[in-house]
Amino acid sequence: MKRGGSDEAKRRAGESAAEQVEDGMIVGLGTGSTAAHAIDKLGQQVDAGLDIQGIPTSFQARANAREAGIPLTTLDEATPDIAIDGADQFADGNLIKGGGAAHAREKIVDSAADRLLVVVDPTKEAETLEHPVPIELLPAARQPVTDALEAAGGEPTLRAAAHKDGPVVTDNGNLVVDCDFGTIDVPAELATTLSQIPGVVEHGLFVGLAAEIHVGTANGVRVVTP
Ligand code: 5RP
Repeated sequence: MKRGGSDEAKRRAGESAAEQVEDGMIVGLGTGSTAAHAIDKLGQQVDAGLDIQGIPTSFQARANAREAGIPLTTLDEATPDIAIDGADQFADGNLIKGGGAAHAREKIVDSAADRLLVVVDPTKEAETLEHPVPIELLPAARQPVTDALEAAGGEPTLRAAAHKDGPVVTDNGNLVVDCDFGTIDVPAELATTLSQIPGVVEHGLFVGLAAEIHVGTANGVRVVTP
């Protein structure tokens, strides 16, 4: 899916993270237009002899990895040494993810990895998180989850599909709401609140997971270490 930010900056970020991957590594493969650049670069490195296996975080990441010629495995078989993934916003090392509705599997793979390298363009940087938080939920739980999110101070909006009547349906067969909480002063607290709502499959707050954030710019890459 095409989203905002310069593609050149995204490419720099993706390639910078891909360069940290070494022979023999298991690599979590993130979703989105910036992570796709990392996957492309890894594919080139595999062509040149790099021996790795990837664990995709979504249908699209799997398709990108297959196209790039990266051998794949699963979390049943291996644990990622490193994961490379994008973000919709970052502040103080914490992330909001889920612009591609892939955050449930992304969080599983990214959390399992020894190190998560986040790849972004400068439009993703904020002083404080305030982007609406994507929340994947079971379809049968839509109303009670909506009520609970409103009680927690959020304004949830069911994500509509772009090329289909009705809502986005995730790779896992669930729905997504984007929940506006305004400025998120204590992300860990909100993350705990969201995780405790019955029917929530996963939310897009990634707290304390990033080891490095590679910010591609117009002429280079800035690496932020939280
Ligand atoms: C998908 C994600 C993406 O990583 C996030 O939306 C960033 O995407 P992009 O690099 O295209 O801006 O969380 O669920």
